Amino acid sequence: MSFPSGGNTTAVSFWTGHFDPLELGIYALLAAGVYLFVKRRGQRFTESRHHLLPVREFIKGHNFVLIDLFAHASFCNICEDIVEEGFRCEACDIVTHRKCAHLAHGSLRCKAMSSFGPDMKHHLVKGNLPPSSICGICHDECEIEDHLTDFRCIWCKITVHTRCVDFLNDICDLGPYRDFIIPPNCIKLKLVGLRPRRQTVVSAVRAPENAHWMPLIVIGNRKSGAGDSSSILGAFRNVLNPGQVIDVNVVKPEEVLEWINLLPNHVCRILICGGDGTVGWILTTIDKLKLKPRPAVGIIPIGTGNDLSNVLGWGSAVSLPLNMEKVFRNITQAEFAMVDRWTVCVRPTRIGLPLPAKTLTFNNYVSLGVDALVTLNFHRKREQIPRFFASRYMNKFLYFTYGTMDVLERACLNLNDKVSLECDGKQLTLPVIEGLVFLNIPSWGAGVDVWNLNAAGDPLYAEQVIDDGYLEVFALYSSFHIAQMQVGLSSPHRLCRAKNIKLTLRRGKVPMQVDGEPWEQGPGVISISYFNQALLLELPRK
Ligand SMILES: *[C@@H]1O[C@H](CO)[C@@H](O)[C@H](O)[C@H]1NC(C)=O
Ligand SMILES: [Zn+2]
Ligand SMILES: [Zn+2]
Ligand SMILES: [Zn+2]
Ligand SMILES: [Zn+2]
Repeated sequence: MSFPSGGNTTAVSFWTGHFDPLELGIYALLAAGVYLFVKRRGQRFTESRHHLLPVREFIKGHNFVLIDLFAHASFCNICEDIVEEGFRCEACDIVTHRKCAHLAHGSLRCKAMSSFGPDMKHHLVKGNLPPSSICGICHDECEIEDHLTDFRCIWCKITVHTRCVDFLNDICDLGPYRDFIIPPNCIKLKLVGLRPRRQTVVSAVRAPENAHWMPLIVIGNRKSGAGDSSSILGAFRNVLNPGQVIDVNVVKPEEVLEWINLLPNHVCRILICGGDGTVGWILTTIDKLKLKPRPAVGIIPIGTGNDLSNVLGWGSAVSLPLNMEKVFRNITQAEFAMVDRWTVCVRPTRIGLPLPAKTLTFNNYVSLGVDALVTLNFHRKREQIPRFFASRYMNKFLYFTYGTMDVLERACLNLNDKVSLECDGKQLTLPVIEGLVFLNIPSWGAGVDVWNLNAAGDPLYAEQVIDDGYLEVFALYSSFHIAQMQVGLSSPHRLCRAKNIKLTLRRGKVPMQVDGEPWEQGPGVISISYFNQALLLELPRK
């Protein structure tokens, strides 16, 4: 199995795919051993009631990424010869030839989600140290040698000479990011279910002895962002416990929840690597948990049109490769921000008869007409020629220029004749328009603070706030009007600020979108009302 991951690397996962009864027996014994040991020590674990969190690493082996050309001379952790083209494990940093990779799964342990014994110990990997590493014992530089030599701990990242390794204390302090890491010695596993459904799951997590501990759960989808996500998740697995880094492409949403449920007092922060769509999805998932206190959510923006991330100071696209020091500094400096969330209920009708309704939650905006048409066309084009759109730069380019190429614009002409709009019980008279936007946050159309544009003297204007329980409602004259606002040359046709909106679409099919998800909407009633507030992390403005 292989998929593009950007640059000259290809991620490859290995599944041995079967349970060996002997292997299982050993794990069962080990798990039982840990259980008894821990029980005797009387450590306080939070027990899981659901056992939804399976442990994959034991059967999965290393997370190998194919490297065409290593940046520095690298040596195989199996045969110790130089490697030009081969694999590097993104979690534990071992390097192998292609031909040696299968041996690594059996003979070299990867960064383990859970370890045995009460203490956190170093996990040393031999050789391939980063250039200019300093020995943690003698403080001399670890020289760049022409063979596999010296050691590095994959948790705390300490580096030591082969000659100094015997002087290294056993205990690992997990390094500079210890406050964010769930130590493997704090995770308890157990076997559940009957064969053939038997699996190892995380059964409990306890807090380490660290007063500043606030674990970070990283959530992403390795298939999004043209492979950027895959390399970002890999970078987090290298620093954190690999179990803390969740790929929603592989894991069910309930498992994400289960992690939070397992943490002592549910205390954690969540970092979402993805677009506004992923953020919205996780916020909805967190709502379902009804946790007190709620975990706060930070964002590493990937892909296009990340307005929410932009408003909260995380930018609209992260620059790669990820600078981990900056990521953790950002998270440490972030402040809490409440963001209003809204419910939109669409009740379609056909010849006056009601059809099944659909209800969605959104945090950014709902729109009808030309603005949604741009997104709809874009999505359709992307489905037609997916390869072409694989590059995120191309994505962005098309996002900005598509408006001018619109051919289906007629559907939106004279939108004012097709809809009636009621805001907080008041019927509005609409001018000749092609679009309507209901906006929650001060960013729209990939980063434009549209409500604030040329606002001086407008009696309707009041500064847009993300937690005031109001939506800002404005109209668009045309796609050209959108283009003008993108460059600040025009202002929106401000209609009102409202808490409850009822929009009746009387005839025709009109493009509609909710937080960037477009579709064609036929006749019906669309109502928008306040739902709740989400807790996010906001970066202070400098
Ligand atoms: C850290 O925050 C700054 C804004 O304060 C942002 O521009 C930058 O992209 C963030 N870095 C990372 C790696 O998240
Ligand atoms: Zn080899
Ligand atoms: Zn590994
Ligand atoms: Zn260590
Ligand atoms: Zn040394």
